[in-house]
Amino acid sequence: MGMSSIFVGALVLVILIQAKGQPGFISIDCGAEAGVNYTEPSLDINYVSDANFINTGVRGIITSEETSTHTQRQLWRLRSFPEGKRNCYKISVTRGSKYLVRTVFLYGNYDGRNMLPQFDLLLGANLWDTVTIKNASIDQSMEIIHVSSLDFIQICLVYTGNGTPFITAIELRTLNNDTYVTPGSLERYMRCDLGSNTVYRYGYDDYDRIWSTCDFKENWTQLSVSISDDSFVENEYKPEATIMSTAVTPANDNAPLVIRWEPEHETDEFSVYMHFTELQVLTTNQTRQFNMSGALFLQNYSPPYMRVFTIYSVSALSGKEIKFSLERTENSTLPPIMNAIEIYKVKQFHQSDTFQGDVDAITSIKSVYGVKRDWEGDPCAPAAYLWDGLNCSYQGIESPRITTLNLSSSGLHGKIAPSISNLTMLEILDLSNNSLNGEIPDFLSQLQHLKILNLEKNNLSGLIPPALNKDSLLLRVDQNPYLCEADQSNKKKKKKHNSIATPIVASVGGVLILLVVVAAMLWTAKRRKAKALMLEKDQSAISPQYTEQNDSSLRFQKQIYSYSDIVKITNNFTTIVGKGGFGTVYLGYIEDTPVAVKMLSPSSVHGYQQFQAEVKLLMRVHHKSLTSLVGYCNEGTNKGLVYEYMANGNLQEHLSGKRSQRNFLNWEKRLRIAVDAALGLEYLQNGCKPPIFHRDVKSTNILLNEHLHAKLSDFGLSKAVLTDGGTHVSTVIAGTPGYLDPEYYLTSRLTEKSDVYSFGVVLLEIITGQPVIAKNEEKSHISEWVRSLIGKGDINAIVDSRLEGEFDSNSVWKAVEIATACVSPNPNRRPIISVVVSELNESLSLATELAQTKYRSTDTSDPVKRVTMNLNIESLPRAR
Ligand SMILES: *[C@@H]1O[C@H](CO)[C@@H](O)[C@H](O)[C@H]1NC(C)=O
Ligand SMILES: *[C@@H]1O[C@H](CO)[C@@H](O)[C@H](O)[C@H]1NC(C)=O
Ligand SMILES: *[C@@H]1O[C@H](CO)[C@@H](O)[C@H](O)[C@H]1NC(C)=O
Ligand SMILES: *[C@@H]1O[C@H](CO)[C@@H](O)[C@H](O)[C@H]1NC(C)=O
Ligand SMILES: *[C@@H]1O[C@H](CO)[C@@H](O)[C@H](O)[C@H]1NC(C)=O
Ligand SMILES: *[C@@H]1O[C@H](CO)[C@@H](O)[C@H](O)[C@H]1NC(C)=O
Ligand SMILES: *[C@@H]1O[C@H](CO)[C@@H](O)[C@H](O)[C@H]1NC(C)=O
Ligand SMILES: *[C@@H]1O[C@H](CO)[C@@H](O)[C@H](O)[C@H]1NC(C)=O
Ligand SMILES: *[C@@H]1O[C@H](CO)[C@@H](O)[C@H](O)[C@H]1NC(C)=O
Ligand SMILES: *[C@@H]1O[C@H](CO)[C@@H](O)[C@H](O)[C@H]1NC(C)=O
Repeated sequence: MGMSSIFVGALVLVILIQAKGQPGFISIDCGAEAGVNYTEPSLDINYVSDANFINTGVRGIITSEETSTHTQRQLWRLRSFPEGKRNCYKISVTRGSKYLVRTVFLYGNYDGRNMLPQFDLLLGANLWDTVTIKNASIDQSMEIIHVSSLDFIQICLVYTGNGTPFITAIELRTLNNDTYVTPGSLERYMRCDLGSNTVYRYGYDDYDRIWSTCDFKENWTQLSVSISDDSFVENEYKPEATIMSTAVTPANDNAPLVIRWEPEHETDEFSVYMHFTELQVLTTNQTRQFNMSGALFLQNYSPPYMRVFTIYSVSALSGKEIKFSLERTENSTLPPIMNAIEIYKVKQFHQSDTFQGDVDAITSIKSVYGVKRDWEGDPCAPAAYLWDGLNCSYQGIESPRITTLNLSSSGLHGKIAPSISNLTMLEILDLSNNSLNGEIPDFLSQLQHLKILNLEKNNLSGLIPPALNKDSLLLRVDQNPYLCEADQSNKKKKKKHNSIATPIVASVGGVLILLVVVAAMLWTAKRRKAKALMLEKDQSAISPQYTEQNDSSLRFQKQIYSYSDIVKITNNFTTIVGKGGFGTVYLGYIEDTPVAVKMLSPSSVHGYQQFQAEVKLLMRVHHKSLTSLVGYCNEGTNKGLVYEYMANGNLQEHLSGKRSQRNFLNWEKRLRIAVDAALGLEYLQNGCKPPIFHRDVKSTNILLNEHLHAKLSDFGLSKAVLTDGGTHVSTVIAGTPGYLDPEYYLTSRLTEKSDVYSFGVVLLEIITGQPVIAKNEEKSHISEWVRSLIGKGDINAIVDSRLEGEFDSNSVWKAVEIATACVSPNPNRRPIISVVVSELNESLSLATELAQTKYRSTDTSDPVKRVTMNLNIESLPRAR
């Protein structure tokens, strides 16, 4: 108790320093009068009125009974939206920065109707969630961790037929860019200060995260100690001393600490962040050590004393029930503990916001003409809320562009607005039946894609710019009394247009569809000549900037592609061949050659801050055992990598039997794959300066081409994604279960021996055909399983039974020996990769009848000639 009052004293000091306004905080009291600016004393947070962030809606106030039970002032007022389908707040932010965005709702029977509404909440162009008000007297909040790709964010409330949308408060908090790095935005599911009975936020948390007391309905004991701020070491996630000073432990000392929840939908994806600290001074005969198993995997972990250690999942978790347990190890004298846990739902926002140039232009047009329409939020997205009078083009993950602006009969006055010239993708512009005056501006002729321009029934004057008389443009200018007709030939042309105008306008949809069909036919017919077609169709075809022209050994010129090139290469992202960390992989063609195009999802690209530097590095790497990078695209949030296409999918699919039986890997093929992969690793470590650590060696990252040659993929990039071991020693990843070097959990450092460890795990999979983590109750690791069998000396129990005894047992023993050495818990006992390569070659020579012809990295002849003949039939590209 004494400690905690000292703590409060320290807190007041902190607040005095920060009282000027919290840096990185934007706190909006919705419905407060314009100009209102106050500090809510119980929170010490400075709120301002929402007047500067929105032009629509009606201010409201909760009933007096409710104000008496809710003492915080920002909860009293609200803004409701009885009119318009979508109403939006627009808040300036720093582009690329990470924010915690919170919306707060307290109904408080403000409208006297006692009807709890339900409505949708959009974040920019994407659905954030549906808001269901559950109790008139309880303030609800929704939170999302989000990186904005624009210099503002829009929070929109959408009427869905179930009552009037309203909002009470909006709070934005700037987070550390290096925290919560995941593909997608993170919606709060639960944030729990375990072992605590109090809710904490700002004052106890610099980022103003709200920490709740959660009930997991498990039989837990609460632990609590006093921690003084001085003796406590934080990490970049900054759960502060108060949050970390409580924890839970299983009520039964020997029971595991189980975390489990049942998602509403099986497909929901979750990301978990756990914060640990040891609260007890451990005596020499005490240890607290635990394993984590189930959805997350971690071995022999001991929380450090009075220091925060954060463990998080890299891959998203999903399923009917998500469950993992912390189980004390044999050496541990104390049960496992956990101090705090954050569970987020991963939101993949696939819809990009409309192209910023178009947004700026249309916003300017709206204000110049004082357009009285329900023009709120993103103009093009979501497509269901497209602004009235607009049409847009949507291509893959590219930002939508405005293609139609129809402001006919809208009471427009004044001149034709110059901002229209910035809608550069405009195809249809209809300003007919208004009171526009002045001349027809020349800039309209510079809109290259314009097909229909209707200026009828206005008061325009002067000459028609001659440049508008072109065959590609259908121009209508009738009933402008002051407009001068130009010379006879132009007049004739115009007449002609006028007379056919109506039928053409009416059938324009049909024409467009026809064009699409023709284009599609051309595409199919000439897909294999994709590049040539692109050159025919427009001038903006691939304009490569060659980066390494002198490297003649490369099959492709490594290129920088524009996003439109990528759209063409992938035929507008038609065929998905894979989904994985940070993006989707599409099949594409460059000339005759299939390629795999990995597009990083727009919400994850900020995880790749060093994208370009990394890619440059990858461009230099070339080895026959590494999937080669053909090129890349780096246009704003459109980031993509173009790789050579690997027709036979990944090794894991073959080992798990997901692939056709005809492609069954016999022992010799397996060994060749192992040698290939090891050679790739050896090249990365020894052939590159500085050496490259793969960091994510696993059987799904070993790809097989049409001849079943193995190549490593996804190397190097993981570096930008995983936390850099050098500087951040206080966070770890509970990663792809089973492949991560156990030493990593002790040192937080990945070394070349970590890759050797992961490779050893892959080799064990190759030998045994077993999953890395057993699918039974014990969830034992493949290395444990093999070690337990080695003692018995029965090779047949270890080796994949599907090989049906067809192998040389000396060769297999050799491989088992190499693999177990690689997975040695002590990194010093693991062989270096070049030793692995030469030992595997030994094993291979034992396996082949042609023992004298060793398989070498320099060997240019096809080492699997004997089998390719049978395989040709299956070398068609297949989805993986
Ligand atoms: C609100 O008041 C504080 C303190 O006087 C000031 O620093 C801040 O700029 C004001 N904010 C707004 C939006 O006026
Ligand atoms: C986060 O990244 C953005 C864009 O790179 C940068 O502008 C911003 O200053 C960074 N914020 C912090 C808190 O580091
Ligand atoms: C709403 O919450 C209040 C306060 O917690 C509670 O007293 C009341 O019973 C709740 N009403 C309903 C309908 O659940
Ligand atoms: C919780 O654990 C305690 C201590 O092991 C035990 O006495 C109690 O019966 C358990 N309660 C339940 C509901 O399982
Ligand atoms: C640990 O050591 C202390 C004295 O050093 C002793 O009193 C205690 O019983 C020991 N505890 C265990 C679990 O061995
Ligand atoms: C924890 O993991 C280690 C290392 O894999 C293993 O030796 C031990 O048996 C595991 N303990 C439990 C209780 O699962
Ligand atoms: C467990 O304790 C034994 C004996 O002290 C030690 O050799 C072993 O390394 C410990 N295991 C772990 C995983 O710490
Ligand atoms: C928008 O354009 C698309 C494709 O050109 C067309 O199918 C659709 O009908 C148009 N929508 C409107 C509202 O004009
Ligand atoms: C523009 O909108 C008006 C009224 O909705 C419609 O009659 C007209 O055909 C539209 N113009 C074009 C070019 O689609
Ligand atoms: C068009 O966009 C450019 C660049 O965004 C801007 O500088 C210019 O002012 C805009 N032109 C008009 C007429 O709005």
